[in-house]
Amino acid sequence: MNLNDRKIIITAGGTIEPIDAVRYIGNFSSGKMGIAFVKNLLKINKNIVLIHGNITVNLPKASRNIYTQTVREMYDAVRRELTDNTLLIMTAAVSDFKVKTFKKKKIKKQKKLVLELIRTIDILKKLSKYKTKNNFFIGFAVESSNLIKNAKNKLNRKKLDMIIANPIDDKNNPFGSNYNKVTIITKDKIIDLKRMKKEAIVKKIIRLLKEERTYEIS
Ligand code: CTP
Repeated sequence: MNLNDRKIIITAGGTIEPIDAVRYIGNFSSGKMGIAFVKNLLKINKNIVLIHGNITVNLPKASRNIYTQTVREMYDAVRRELTDNTLLIMTAAVSDFKVKTFKKKKIKKQKKLVLELIRTIDILKKLSKYKTKNNFFIGFAVESSNLIKNAKNKLNRKKLDMIIANPIDDKNNPFGSNYNKVTIITKDKIIDLKRMKKEAIVKKIIRLLKEERTYEIS
């Protein structure tokens, strides 16, 4: 794939779903993987949009950076930016749930509180409807069991071209870390990398992408 002449959208960090005036549903994503993609891809292409939620690292200045809070906002931003020739790298940790009823006021302390959670949009799944043959979509999968099987399912279900799968267990917790242990899965390849710095993983994926062709959607 020619990486110089296409638009690149990278999502990074964690989404936030408000519960009430002061609380939210979030996650431990630092945004490090996404930012490493932005920094390394900027060396070959300046047409990069970073759509980010909560992140703990500094934002790169050379990209166009868009802050989104909720899953809906992130979906809308990606949908708006998506063009026919986009490479989408979806590193963001997107909440699967939001509260059924958002409380405008602060919920007061009480003996017991039960929150009803409902599903958010699956951004990649919804975007697959608009995918063209020139698009290339990459997803990420954190799994605590059946890594390859679950990641392959996500690759198919979300009509992705590549999925980067990683375990979360005692030996590997990628959240907030500079390191990760990933397996790169495409329709015809499974590449198992050893545990290494996220920066090095990103460089390997970029090298691989240069060899990759775009697929027709079946
Ligand atoms: N993702 C998304 N929309 C969501 C949840 C996840 O687009 N509502 C994206 C993530 O950015 C990631 C990929 O889908 O690139 C896989 O995310 P993951 O949380 O592993 O998958 P889920 O579909 O949420 O499945 P599960 O939580 O059951 O493992």
